[in-house]
Amino acid sequence: MSNILLQAENISKYYYLGDQKIMVLGNVSLTVNRGEFVVIAGSSGSGKTTLLSVLSGLDRPSIGRIHMAGRDITDLTEDQLAPVRNTLTGFVFQAFHLIPSLNAIENVMFPAELKKDPEARNKAQSLLDQVGLQDRGKNFPEQLSGGEQQRIAICRALINDPEIVFADEPTGNLDSENSEGIIQLLVDLHKDRKITLVIATHSQSLASRADRIVRLHDGRIQEG
Ligand SMILES: Nc1ncnc2c1ncn2[C@@H]1O[C@H](COP(=O)(O)OP(=O)(O)OP(=O)(O)O)[C@@H](O)[C@H]1O
Ligand SMILES: [Mg+2]
Repeated sequence: MSNILLQAENISKYYYLGDQKIMVLGNVSLTVNRGEFVVIAGSSGSGKTTLLSVLSGLDRPSIGRIHMAGRDITDLTEDQLAPVRNTLTGFVFQAFHLIPSLNAIENVMFPAELKKDPEARNKAQSLLDQVGLQDRGKNFPEQLSGGEQQRIAICRALINDPEIVFADEPTGNLDSENSEGIIQLLVDLHKDRKITLVIATHSQSLASRADRIVRLHDGRIQEG
């Protein structure tokens, strides 16, 4: 099995505003090895969220190719891509993005139910136990603190045993105490489960724990 899990080759991303073409990513190439913990840093507007979206298959590059676990995912249709995303990747957002009409355990189970995993509920309960939320399974998102919601979102990202977890500013909506809790949880996942992590963040504390920091500046990787 190759040591390379994710490979982005000469990725560019453009948006069009009227007839104006705006370059948001410019010729970005990046390789992430299995088990690596990579932080994507850079000032606001430098392209971090766009890069994560493209790397994770949530969005497509305008130019360039993405390989995930040895497979070229660039030209897959949405129907082909959805199961690849659901089994290989997990995604954690700044604003948690839990489904408000589902309780905590149902939110965690959701990606496993999509693939009709009969163990969905047991796996979800075990994940809640691991993050210390065994008593919160029946709470709806609005009945949970921000830190608790993010722990639920991390459990949801893990339920299908992904190879790689992407997180976009996972501590951005949390106070410093809750941020430290989430950082420790992510670091433990990386160490204990050997999960590959790619995280966009402004947090120095989170970046200091990474194996490698990739810095973006105006949509390009800063060298040196
Ligand atoms: N759908 C879109 N249409 C046009 N421009 C966009 C679109 N999405 C993002 N952009 C632009 O792309 C640039 C990069 O945005 P992006 O969200 O990737 O930055 P970021 O590094 O994540 O910033 P932050 O740290 O504030 O989250 C910004 O200038 C933004 O305005
Ligand atoms: Mg962003």
